Amino acid sequence: MRIKGKLSYQVERFRDNKAFHQNLDDTALLSLVDNELEGRYRQVLIVGERESAQYVLRQKGGYKKTGRSASMPRPGGDQAHNREKEYILREGENIPALVDLGVFTPDFRIVRSKYDKYKQINRFVELVDQELGRYEGREIRILDFGCGKSYLTFILYYYFVVKRGIRAQIIGYDLKADVVEHCNQIAEKYGYAGLRFQVADVTRDTLSEESIDMVVTLHACDTATDYALDYAIRRKVKHIFSVPCCQHEVNGSIHKGGQLDLLLNHGIIRERLCALLTDSIRAAVLEARGYELDMIEFIDFAHSPKNIMLRAGYTGRCRPGGLEQALALKEQYGFKQTLIDLQMNSPSP
Ligand SMILES: C[S@@+](CC[C@H](N)C(=O)[O-])C[C@H]1O[C@@H](n2cnc3c(N)ncnc32)[C@H](O)[C@@H]1O
Repeated sequence: MRIKGKLSYQVERFRDNKAFHQNLDDTALLSLVDNELEGRYRQVLIVGERESAQYVLRQKGGYKKTGRSASMPRPGGDQAHNREKEYILREGENIPALVDLGVFTPDFRIVRSKYDKYKQINRFVELVDQELGRYEGREIRILDFGCGKSYLTFILYYYFVVKRGIRAQIIGYDLKADVVEHCNQIAEKYGYAGLRFQVADVTRDTLSEESIDMVVTLHACDTATDYALDYAIRRKVKHIFSVPCCQHEVNGSIHKGGQLDLLLNHGIIRERLCALLTDSIRAAVLEARGYELDMIEFIDFAHSPKNIMLRAGYTGRCRPGGLEQALALKEQYGFKQTLIDLQMNSPSP
């Protein structure tokens, strides 16, 4: 950046969850690297106009370079016109956490059996980037509901912190204690101070009370998605990216009751109808509660049949018409749908 016409570098230090900034010219920056850096920080991230690099302190001393990638173009930067053509994660890119998670080989090639997962997380981040590519906050706070092995959670952290130079606080919630522990170990190993994982049942446990900017779900089972959406609606979380999965609830409770009966005769049709109905209802609830929403094909059907993303942004403009139709269908066909129940039984403030 330029300050009073002179090229300057901003150094950001994190201590006790607080950020401290200092602007330096190039001579002062080099002297800081020479004199101050060695051994004092667990993680160092250098974000340049064209390239970003990440270093983690070794136990024996000295730093190990653990990540290097092309920097994302900055809003208004001279590369801004290239944005659409950029791939977010490339095979061969040094993303060490993906090696630990078994998606990349040690030389950063895609493990063949993980190719679908790689495609999914890449596409997810691409859709996030379309929406937040111009995010200008210094920090972003994200919750991932049903994070599982947390490929997505790690990649979101990598995308914001390493690629974009934005400080991120991300929590992944999951029921499985062993998986959560493993993910915390990997986060620790790479000095990802803002990334942590917690054992939680998102349908009943108390979750973060902090102000949250973004809620994500990727194939969170059945009604876990509804609880994530309910959490986001109640707190008017600005951004929601949700790819639902196994929508059993409506399928398990729907009865014949009218013009849709023909679609309930055969299991395979009934299952697909109920999945589409569930996601349409979720969309209607979000719109009724002030969200603008896109329904996006998340990934080719061949890569995953659970391939619809609800991408929503809070605007405060409420459109109740869809919710009224959903309530009428619910009444007529007698099914249960958790997001409607959560929102109608205890409406958001
Ligand atoms: C199909 S996996 C998806 C994991 C990950 N998001 C991904 O796409 O790789 C679903 C995850 O949701 C978790 N899950 C299901 N119900 C949950 C609940 N009520 N609270 C927290 N996690 C839940 C499961 O333990 C599982 O790890």
